[in-house]
Amino acid sequence: MVCFLTFYFQTGLFLIFMRIDIISAVPELLQSPFEYSIVKRAQDKNLVEINVIDLRRYGLNKYGQIDDYQYGGGAGMVLMVEPLYNCITDLQKDTVYDEIIYLTPDGQRFEQKKANELSLYKNLLLICGHYKGIDERIREHFVTLELSIGDYVLSGGELAAAVVVDAVVRLIPGVLSDAESALTDSFQDGLLAPPVYTRPADFKGWKVPDILLSGHEAKIKEWRLEKSIERTRKRRPDLLGE
Ligand code: 6GU
Repeated sequence: MVCFLTFYFQTGLFLIFMRIDIISAVPELLQSPFEYSIVKRAQDKNLVEINVIDLRRYGLNKYGQIDDYQYGGGAGMVLMVEPLYNCITDLQKDTVYDEIIYLTPDGQRFEQKKANELSLYKNLLLICGHYKGIDERIREHFVTLELSIGDYVLSGGELAAAVVVDAVVRLIPGVLSDAESALTDSFQDGLLAPPVYTRPADFKGWKVPDILLSGHEAKIKEWRLEKSIERTRKRRPDLLGE
């Protein structure tokens, strides 16, 4: 594993470098999510570049308009086709995207499997809707994948985009250390993760299971698998097909 990583680092980071562009009408919402922790470290290591593009830069007329009332009536504003068209085609002058993703509650449910797939791509474009969404013609002519992060409605796609980016970036080769390996995450093997403990071994009489202190690697592995299965059966039997 060390050899493999050394090879990557010495022969060309560009091979695994990922670019993620995010179009947003409220870019302020996306300021802090990428400035901490693992996603921040991934950028510092030049394993990913994340750009948030302010859709308002492509606003129309002297007001910088980006949204309008929907045809046919009804409450709520819709992001207009023209600013989005101009923004996307402008970005496409520099980048060929592997997927153009629209974050929307009526999209396909975002799951670990999709995060794994996306982590292998080189260029992703994410479009955040707001208010009532975006003009359908952008979905028809540009969008290649529509994702939802769950069955509830958010005010906009920004928080969902942050979720997708976080889940994807941590899977890019070289982002996590061996010790942090994503392979032991919940869902990666179709199971929930087992319980974890750290020092002290005894806190006010609340004890860490003896097995974890035993140093017996094989038994610890077995215990963890057992706990994973137990926890999955109890909390998410659907993952076991039960
Ligand atoms: Cl991707 N967008 C919005 N606005 N709401 C959501 C969502 C996305 N996923 C779940 N709810």
